[in-house]
Amino acid sequence: MAASRIKILVTGSEGQLGKTIADLAPHQHQYTFIFLSRTQLDITHAQQLEAVITKQQPDIIVNTAAYTAVDAAEDNRQQAFAINQQGPQLLAGVCKKHEIALIHISTDYVFDGQAQQPYKENDTINPQTVYGQSKRAGEEAILEAGLSRFLIIRTSWLYGVHGHNFLKTMLRLGQERSHLNVVNDQQGIPTSVIDLTKAIFTIIPQLTPANSGVYHYSNSGRATWFDFAQFIFENCELKVSVEPVATLQFPTPAKRPEYSVLNCDKIRNTFGVKTPDWKKSAASILSIVNS
Ligand SMILES: NC(=O)c1ccc[n+]([C@@H]2O[C@H](COP(=O)([O-])OP(=O)(O)OC[C@H]3O[C@@H](n4cnc5c(N)ncnc54)[C@H](OP(=O)(O)O)[C@@H]3O)[C@@H](O)[C@H]2O)c1
Repeated sequence: MAASRIKILVTGSEGQLGKTIADLAPHQHQYTFIFLSRTQLDITHAQQLEAVITKQQPDIIVNTAAYTAVDAAEDNRQQAFAINQQGPQLLAGVCKKHEIALIHISTDYVFDGQAQQPYKENDTINPQTVYGQSKRAGEEAILEAGLSRFLIIRTSWLYGVHGHNFLKTMLRLGQERSHLNVVNDQQGIPTSVIDLTKAIFTIIPQLTPANSGVYHYSNSGRATWFDFAQFIFENCELKVSVEPVATLQFPTPAKRPEYSVLNCDKIRNTFGVKTPDWKKSAASILSIVNS
């Protein structure tokens, strides 16, 4: 008899990661999927969560739901913590009760951005923003829940075809303007949400109690926002002159990390996932956006 397919429930399915998982899901014949938007499942609503999970009985929950408005979070601490801390805490609770595995997405913003070399999973946590603090609190809630199978994946500079992201903002501005100033003193790695999705699909059947824990996932290489903008315009043959500027010239309510490069050795070595060069992946996303 054929083995039954793994049932994956995806929260926050209208976000950029949630939608990308849905895009790629039809090719994943070893899994069945349930996609739930915020209106269908509010992860901060304990009774709704319990009712949905009891009804759907997934094998694994992929939590892409989050409060991601980094600057707005500075004035909306309560809401950011409700979604990024209490939500994951409730999810971890139902996962524990129903013996469901959990994959949760976190962020490079749990670090202070002062490192000189790529961040490893055990490096000192020191979030500098309300968003970063709320995401760290969500990690802690999951770590404390005592789940037998779980993964916290920290990622950085996510972009893709859906939602709001740097690549799409640059493409819009590139149509409107011939000159742009872009920050050149923050370093990180643009990460394709398609590559992250493929990594999640690769990991799911391999997830065990022994390899559960915190992992970093990003593309390879490194860039500043200026490098990323230049690459986008060159690739699309948009005639925009881009000037490198300092962060000081772009004050934002939430402080941005100067250095956000993640070391992804652990996730590559444990699960054999691929972390393609960011330029290759950005070119591939641009070809989809421009098609
Ligand atoms: N974007 C990045 O650059 C980046 C970088 C590092 C890590 N991450 C992490 O990656 C994950 C995915 O990010 P993303 O870019 O896909 O975010 P996104 O596009 O903002 O999507 C998040 C989704 O969560 C939904 N949501 C908010 N509150 C909810 C609730 N209480 N219950 C259920 N759903 C809720 C949102 O719905 P509404 O739109 O209706 O609020 C939205 O559809 C997040 O954990 C984020 O922290 C993102």
